[in-house]
Amino acid sequence: MKKVLTTFAVVALSATFANANSDLVKEGEKIFNTKKIGNCFACHAANGKKINGPGSLGPKLQYLSSWPEKALYDKVYDPYTTNPISAMPAFGKNGVLTDKQIKAVVAYLKTIK
Ligand code: HEC
Repeated sequence: MKKVLTTFAVVALSATFANANSDLVKEGEKIFNTKKIGNCFACHAANGKKINGPGSLGPKLQYLSSWPEKALYDKVYDPYTTNPISAMPAFGKNGVLTDKQIKAVVAYLKTIK
C-alpha cells in the first residue's frame, strides 16, 4: 500500500509540474506571437511559423532547445551583451517585458528544435 501511495504521489507531482511548465510555454508562445507584447515574430520565424511582416531582420530561430536557459534569458534581456551591433531590441533592459514574461518566453524558446 505504501508503495502504491508513493507511486501515486510521484505521478501526481510530475503531472502538476508538467502542467505548470506547459502553461508557461503557452504564455511564452503568446508573448512571442503577440504584436503588442513581445512581437518576436515580426523578426523571427520559429516552429514552422512564418514571419508576420515584410522584413526578416532576425534569423530563423532553431536549435534553441540546446541553449542554456541563462543564455536565452540574457539574449532576450539585452542582445547587445552578445552582439553589440544587434538589431534586436533589448526587451528586459528597456522594460518592454517583465522578468516573468521573459522567463515564459525562454520556456517557449526551449521548445524550438
Ligand atoms: C526588430 C527585429 C527583432 C525583434 C522584434 C526580435 N528579434 Fe531576436 N534577433 C534579431 C536579430 C537581428 C538577431 C541576430 C543578431 C543577434 O544575435 O543579436 C536576433 C537574434 C535572436 C536570438 C539568437 C538566435 C541565434 O540563433 O543566435 C534569439 C534567441 C532571439 N533573437 C529571440 C527573440 C525573442 C524571444 C524576441 C521577442 C521577445 C525577439 N528575438 C525579437 C531581431 C529581432
